[in-house]
Amino acid sequence: MTQTEEKTQAPDTPMVPIEKIVSLCKRRGFVYPNSEIYGGVSGIYDFGPLGVELRNNIRRYWWWSMVQTNDNVVGIEGSIITHPRVWLMMETYIGVVEGERMKTYLRGEACQNIYLDYDNVLKSSRTQIPFGICQIGKAFRNEVTPGNFLFRQREFEQWDLQFFVHPSEMQKWFDYWKQFRFEWYKGIINHKDRLRFRAHGPDELAHYAKQAFDIEYQTVLGWQEWEGIHWRQDWDLSRHSQFSGQDLSYTDPETKERYIPWIVETSGGVDRTFLNLLLDAYEEEPDPTGKESRTVLRLHPWLAPVKVAVLPLQKNKEELVTTAKDIHKKLRRLMVSQYDDIANIGRRYRRQDEIGTPFCVTVDFQTLDDKTVTVRERDHMTQVRLAIDELPMYLLERVMWK
Ligand code: GAP
Repeated sequence: MTQTEEKTQAPDTPMVPIEKIVSLCKRRGFVYPNSEIYGGVSGIYDFGPLGVELRNNIRRYWWWSMVQTNDNVVGIEGSIITHPRVWLMMETYIGVVEGERMKTYLRGEACQNIYLDYDNVLKSSRTQIPFGICQIGKAFRNEVTPGNFLFRQREFEQWDLQFFVHPSEMQKWFDYWKQFRFEWYKGIINHKDRLRFRAHGPDELAHYAKQAFDIEYQTVLGWQEWEGIHWRQDWDLSRHSQFSGQDLSYTDPETKERYIPWIVETSGGVDRTFLNLLLDAYEEEPDPTGKESRTVLRLHPWLAPVKVAVLPLQKNKEELVTTAKDIHKKLRRLMVSQYDDIANIGRRYRRQDEIGTPFCVTVDFQTLDDKTVTVRERDHMTQVRLAIDELPMYLLERVMWK
């Protein structure tokens, strides 16, 4: 276990009420209700300055580990509006001339674009079966009961892998991706015991599916789906072949066997990941100095919205301020860095703990003598003294995913 992994382990803590996360998100600029000044729209949210950083980090880490580090997986980004024959969901119209406007639909699941683009990807890239196509994108559902903050929304974002295989290899790849995705989630949470598989019962399985599993996470809402691992067989490509009239079968370049590829799908929610990670990371703990409790977000350093805060010990000492600003300007080219000189140092540490910043760099009087700074780590509040020159590498090693 690396030093970083060790430090993200939290002691066993009670489950966090959703209201605490809602309040933190609003207070610190992670998530706001959409159109709030007009009374809001149920089941739709906007992401604030810290929320967008966290969300981008979550997305980028998924993309890196699913697309960029797998040679047999490529990515696409499909449009939100699709041809009317693809959907029966939220309606919209394209065209400006009355009578010539076409009714189209906002997609209800992001994965359909992958089937629609499957043939184009195959012809325009050097992919061969087995291979996968990934996408992250918005989906829209007229949920009857949106609720529990980001858990069930009407506009949300999904990440999908559709992995195309020869039917004889379906079980092998299903098992592979099922385990891969489980380990992926396990790697970014503190409470590993709150993650499990749930097999779908015969009454839940689609008629073409031999099996399906949900990866579930336990919160105050109980055990809930985080991601689905689905056996889609040849259902989607066969149906699109039938309805579009385009032949979507694949010819093996060596054996010349012709078949409709079978599909393993892994489909999860970006927003549900966002919410689960906050629920997993949030903790209120007594201050060891006994003065006040602190709220700390034990987010994995790979995903934390702000990686480092640079703090001069005192605001009224020009040399401290100039040196701290100089360090901040160098670090912000490499990672998200915040400069903060408002309030006493303890209060500034608390502010950073509450948003999950894994490291605080303090510039003090010793810095002016020997060009060293204090680096304080979020989870255990331990401190090390480092030369300013060593800072970039020290931090990068701990905040960059590997
Ligand atoms: N293509 C398969 C599919 O869409 P799904 O189980 O309906 O499967 C996949 O959705 C994931 O999308 C879920 O595991 C969940 O994380 C997320 N999700 C589904 N509906 C959602 C909603 N209303 N709000 C937020 N996330 C949602």
